[in-house]
Amino acid sequence: MDRRRQQTSRSHKATSQKIDVKLIPLDASQAANRVSIIEFLKEHHTTDPKHFPDPEQPFNKYNFYFLFKPSTATMLGVSCYSRLSDHLAITRFSCIHKDHRGQGYGRLQSDCLEQEIRKAGFGKIFCEIYSDNLANLNLKLSQGFQIEGFHKSHFDKGRDEYSLGKILT
Ligand SMILES: CC(C)(COP(=O)(O)OP(=O)(O)OC[C@H]1O[C@@H](n2cnc3c(N)ncnc32)[C@H](O)[C@@H]1OP(=O)(O)O)[C@@H](O)C(=O)NCCC(=O)NCCS
Repeated sequence: MDRRRQQTSRSHKATSQKIDVKLIPLDASQAANRVSIIEFLKEHHTTDPKHFPDPEQPFNKYNFYFLFKPSTATMLGVSCYSRLSDHLAITRFSCIHKDHRGQGYGRLQSDCLEQEIRKAGFGKIFCEIYSDNLANLNLKLSQGFQIEGFHKSHFDKGRDEYSLGKILT
């Protein structure tokens, strides 16, 4: 199958599945919920687990969500934002289950998180992405984020990152 046909069938699949998916805020008051989010990140995120929040501590700074498919009771993804100022929110720890990538869920999750950030009254979203993470860079650029900086050997020694921002209008 050529690339155009692959893209067409992929977008059809995503459209039909979107109807049945919800972004649900994590009830972080329960330690078991915090543990399940961190276990999901350890399994499906690419970041070193030392950067994940400690599930033994309250997630005061973090607003976590999971992407849930009720019909199959499947947890498809995790996303999160934190307040940096009254105007600025940073998104971190977004990921989609390894078995469910490439079906439009990452885009859907990112769109839904943006809606949550807008509803909370922020005027800008900021994120930092490893320079070799083409999937997430492509996704954010296609959603109207702009590259605002390039940071050599940044969060992790030896790993370069781009910072991207989107002004919400
Ligand atoms: C980044 C991630 C969330 C994307 O989720 P996904 O469900 O696979 O993405 P989607 O199917 O919704 O694709 C959305 C867009 O992302 C980009 N993309 C997704 N996979 C890609 C790949 N393998 N190569 C290049 N671009 C890709 C494309 O622009 C795509 O749009 P298109 O379908 O119109 O081409 C997922 O790959 C992931 O969880 N990665 C590991 C964790 C991670 O890197 N998180 C970000 C930390 S900063």
